[in-house]
Amino acid sequence: MTQRVTAIYPGTFDPITNGHLDLIERGSKIFDNLTVAVLRNVEKNPLFSVDERVEMLRETTRHCPNVSVDSFGGLLVDFAVRCQARVILRGIRAVSDYENELQMALMNRKLDSNIETVFMMSAAAYTYLSSRLVKEVCQLGGDVKGLVPPVVEERLRAKVD
Ligand code: PNS
Repeated sequence: MTQRVTAIYPGTFDPITNGHLDLIERGSKIFDNLTVAVLRNVEKNPLFSVDERVEMLRETTRHCPNVSVDSFGGLLVDFAVRCQARVILRGIRAVSDYENELQMALMNRKLDSNIETVFMMSAAAYTYLSSRLVKEVCQLGGDVKGLVPPVVEERLRAKVD
């Protein structure tokens, strides 16, 4: 009997971009269940609250039946165990992402060697895209159409207006 594999895709998602969404859609085709996990981190200064980010993620992933959205605090590996997830999914956009991702993957392996980090390459069209840049462009009056889902574009405009 083959074992079902649950993966978690953790991140800040402030807000979700089309790059994240592409990764979620592709990840949902590989894993039996995919939990998108928003970090509750009081240190960062987010534009959207955790609840708003979870809501936007739920709205934009509604078409993926095996995707769920949750938030977590504390160690990622502890949350993975609570979700019975054996895989942490992360995206890599460019070489510049690699060093930090390697460090996190090795630390997570040190903390719990039963959990494997799996990397997927971002779609070529989104390799330059980040939540930080999207927020900056929107705050400075630039157009973010095509970079984030339409519902996120609306919420972004409402925040910065
Ligand atoms: O979207 P981001 O900001 O790149 O996501 C970073 C995230 C949430 C994956 C990372 O900060 C994280 O896993 N934080 C949880 C705390 C933790 O487990 N730290 C130790 C292992 S790196």
